[in-house]
Amino acid sequence: MQNNIFSGLFVGQNLVTIKEVDSTNTFLKNLLSNSKPLPEGTVIMAESQYAGRGQQQNKWHSEPGKNLTFSILLTPGFVPVISQFDLNRVVSLGVFDALEVYLGDKLKIKWPNDIYYEDRKLGGILIETNILSGHIKHVIIGIGLNINQENFDAGAGNAISLKQILHKDYDLRTILSEICAHIEAYYLSLKAGRFSAVREVYLSRLYWLNQQKYFRSNDQVFEGIIRNVKDEGLLVVENNNELQEFSLKQIEFLNK
Ligand code: BTN
Repeated sequence: MQNNIFSGLFVGQNLVTIKEVDSTNTFLKNLLSNSKPLPEGTVIMAESQYAGRGQQQNKWHSEPGKNLTFSILLTPGFVPVISQFDLNRVVSLGVFDALEVYLGDKLKIKWPNDIYYEDRKLGGILIETNILSGHIKHVIIGIGLNINQENFDAGAGNAISLKQILHKDYDLRTILSEICAHIEAYYLSLKAGRFSAVREVYLSRLYWLNQQKYFRSNDQVFEGIIRNVKDEGLLVVENNNELQEFSLKQIEFLNK
């Protein structure tokens, strides 16, 4: 029997591991444009990235060999372009469920798709969508999770790793396979049409949901309460008894 720790049907079944690459997202993108089609669920995992990319043009730093840095290829033709944020939900929930087993209820999803433990960032997700003639052709889902790294540069902000929380080393492949299985399960739920169920679970896992907190928008600091996430992904914050909607670039969470 083949030794395969990936329990799902397709996510992670075609696993390519690389020692060093610029960025697994970029590598997968180039592979798609240069070679024959790849099976859905292909995963590119790197031991080390020298030009890891984060959201909003940020860099993603990760100590070689210590953490998970990988990209998954999905071809969700069944998801209308307007509903593409549901893919963010699927992926964040998949990562969340895999890590919740280790970390319990201090784990949250910070909108739109950061993985948080208490007030610190354990991981991030970068989804790059390729749309052709009004349909989603494929998405490249890049996931970076701090697993066994023990120290972070001051520039890494509020980063934290699984090891810093639980004081143990973890096998990267095992956690990768767990994440793939959970993402696949949520993805298949979406494919079966259970969009509202996925949206409900996502909301229930949200960092700062229904709590009075500080935010910044347009250089103004205000106290508000996260009440919802619109179907298409906008964050709904209550401010002075009014509901306002924000895109990622329009709002900043303030820890003070
Ligand atoms: C963020 O929080 O800003 C998103 C970080 C995403 C990092 C991952 S690591 C694997 C994949 N390759 C990249 O270059 N970025 C993503």
